[in-house]
Amino acid sequence: MPITSSDQIIKWRNDTPGCSTSNHLNNAGAALMPKPVIDAIHNHIDLEAEIGGYEAEEAAADRIADCYSSVAKLIGSSTSNIAIVENATVATSQALSAFKYRQDDTIITTNVDYASNQIMLLSLAARFGINIVRADDLPEGGADPDSVLKLIRKHRPTLVLMSWIPTNSGLIQDAKSIGRICRDEDVPFILDACQAVGQFPIDVDELNCDFLAATARKFLRGPRGIGFLYVSDRMLNQGLEPLFPDTHGATWTAPEAYRLEPGAKRYENWESSYALLLGLGAAADYANGIDLEMAGKRAAELAEYTRENLKAALPGVRVLDFGREKCAIVSAAFEKREPEELVLLLRKQKINTSVASRTAGVIDMRAKKATSILRISPHYYNTVDEIDDFIQCLSEILN
Ligand SMILES: Cc1ncc(COP(=O)(O)O)c(C=O)c1O
Repeated sequence: MPITSSDQIIKWRNDTPGCSTSNHLNNAGAALMPKPVIDAIHNHIDLEAEIGGYEAEEAAADRIADCYSSVAKLIGSSTSNIAIVENATVATSQALSAFKYRQDDTIITTNVDYASNQIMLLSLAARFGINIVRADDLPEGGADPDSVLKLIRKHRPTLVLMSWIPTNSGLIQDAKSIGRICRDEDVPFILDACQAVGQFPIDVDELNCDFLAATARKFLRGPRGIGFLYVSDRMLNQGLEPLFPDTHGATWTAPEAYRLEPGAKRYENWESSYALLLGLGAAADYANGIDLEMAGKRAAELAEYTRENLKAALPGVRVLDFGREKCAIVSAAFEKREPEELVLLLRKQKINTSVASRTAGVIDMRAKKATSILRISPHYYNTVDEIDDFIQCLSEILN
């Protein structure tokens, strides 16, 4: 386990009311929120109830502005490059909508990209006749950067879209190398960092991404129903805009004209939950106050400990996490039991896990010969005892 003092772990757990009631190993679904996040949301809802929604927004204007700085700090960008949107899927769809597509254009993606991303690409293909080309995988798993380079040179694609960490396994794809290639080849790079943000430090400059999509509720520990999109200066300066800007992202200036917001705000919509936005800001502050490098290592090592114990303690289990680098998501298939049933039985013991079904990753699951997997995703605030309890409980269920 990484060097994390027990005082530090106690503090994280004391900050997290849910730790006293649940063994929460579903951080890739939605993590437990720490108290500052919960308070930020409650306080704003109370204010809205007291003085009215629009009035509360005005009263909280400074704190709302600070949320953008907090999110920007989290990923090493500037405030003007951040758009706050409903979730990671909306962030990705807003980014995809900014490009012009013509018949026979190409988008390059990966075999393990998130299911909604794959569906959006298939929909674009059906509407515009574009080609979706998926990079080959490395033998150890994850898109091969050399394959991406070859495909870029062959197809000169409109863009590359990649999920850094897929939803259904512990694989970390090589976003840095692929971002470098995209930049060298002058191809826009959209990075889905939904499962990465809050799990380890992120620097958008190092990643060379043009768009980065994320959600608050997963490893970042924010609330459900809010996320963000980073947009690079390169894309802003090229004048790219979402297909449907609204009165927040643009101003209607004349019967036939509108003026875009100068920054990434052009990707936002006017109506938004300010309580959730403040919760996102508080989650970003909380993450910024943590040594994410160390915390991320702890979470990844808890995951590795889970993998080892699953294999050692439980016959007939297949651990399905591949890749050069693995994160805090563990995926496992069982010979005789469906993960859906295991999740329910574990939940009765207050142990939270989740299921990824075949449709969460059709290509990946087919390659792994799995119809669905049990997903176990610890965070830095989980303990070795909690993993041991989970293994013990699972082995009792299976036996
Ligand atoms: C890799 C990945 N990308 C995108 C998403 C979508 O996030 P959201 O539900 O916030 O749109 C998820 C959600 O599980 C995910 O795992």
